[in-house]
Amino acid sequence: MISTEVRAVGHSYRVLIGPGLLDCVGGVIKEKLAPSRCAIISDTNVAPLFAGKIQKSLTPPGFESALITVPAGEHSKTLEQIGAVCEEMLRAGLDRQSFVIGLGGGVIGDLSGFAAAIFQRGIPHVQIPTTLLAMVDSSIGGKTGVNTSAGKNLIGAIHQPVLVIDDVEILKTLPRPQLGQGFAEIIKHAVIADAEMFSLLQGVDLNNVDYAPLIRRNVEIKARLVTKDERDRTGERALLNFGHTVGHAIECAFDYQGISHGEAVSLGIVAACEISMKKAALPKKQRDAIADLLRKFALPTHLPAHFPRQKIFDTLKFDKKFESGQIRFVVTPRIGSANLSRDVTMEDIRQAVEAL
Ligand SMILES: NC(=O)c1ccc[n+]([C@@H]2O[C@H](COP(=O)([O-])OP(=O)(O)OC[C@H]3O[C@@H](n4cnc5c(N)ncnc54)[C@H](O)[C@@H]3O)[C@@H](O)[C@H]2O)c1
Ligand SMILES: [Zn+2]
Repeated sequence: MISTEVRAVGHSYRVLIGPGLLDCVGGVIKEKLAPSRCAIISDTNVAPLFAGKIQKSLTPPGFESALITVPAGEHSKTLEQIGAVCEEMLRAGLDRQSFVIGLGGGVIGDLSGFAAAIFQRGIPHVQIPTTLLAMVDSSIGGKTGVNTSAGKNLIGAIHQPVLVIDDVEILKTLPRPQLGQGFAEIIKHAVIADAEMFSLLQGVDLNNVDYAPLIRRNVEIKARLVTKDERDRTGERALLNFGHTVGHAIECAFDYQGISHGEAVSLGIVAACEISMKKAALPKKQRDAIADLLRKFALPTHLPAHFPRQKIFDTLKFDKKFESGQIRFVVTPRIGSANLSRDVTMEDIRQAVEAL
């Protein structure tokens, strides 16, 4: 088992990574929290697979657990669902001494974390991520929240977990496209912060990935960038948006249908590389290596030929990163490094989107 410490503002938490950890959830939590009641918040796909094992391990150390299941999918990330979950927590007898376990992908991480942030003005949150994306990205950094009709993740709170448990065996039941979602963020991390991991990924055998060290490396990259800038104020955290400015616009232009976040980010990374060649002297050879790596993980590097690119461009001006007309765009001068540029113009972005 690998254990790595993430330092957040005010406190730090452990991320445990390894096979078979679900069987020892109770024992591990006991080292951190006193015996009490807890809610396991999960979704309709994940709960039948793993909740039983966790409940079983919670009983001997003296934890009483109530399983709360929400429908699987992004549409559960709403204020209504948060309300329903909190009501159910009250009915199950949870109080200020209780805690929440989030068992699921990023949707459950965001939803359970927000419930933990507001229930009784805040109780501890244990994350048990079950998707690769959640392990390498969403479970780290403390962002929690829900969507509204005006946009994604607009209501929420920063609420750091007290513990994150990544059981790599859980990934065996994950559908292959879901793994790709995780790899899009992993490749992003490699490009912005870890040239050595980039080379490792180039050589990796897709049918035989050693996930534990890979997850650890990604947790550490995200933790490092987030710790320096928990609330997106100084710019370090913004580097994690590499590929996301255009990526979000693509998701939006597709009306969030027929394209996944990871696929959109993959295209956004290609666009960001195009811009980086022009504005940050990224060598063409490196741009090509990044596109090759994305394709290796079955991620797209071109838009469908007839997709109206103008639609993508039109949505860009609503992106929150376009502060008062000033674009802060993340560029990479070479694999393993990134910085914020104020030299990128809307015209540069338009050309990169046209070329996709
Ligand atoms: N808080 C953050 O910092 C942050 C960062 C990135 C993304 N996010 C959020 O994460 C969400 C996306 O997360 P996601 O991609 O994990 O999606 P998800 O939580 O919807 O999970 C994807 C699907 O896989 C199923 N699933 C999960 N684990 C499984 C397993 N082990 N076996 C079989 N099926 C399994 C789920 O039921 C779901 O149907 C978005 O809402 C996004 O906004 C948050
Ligand atoms: Zn992302």
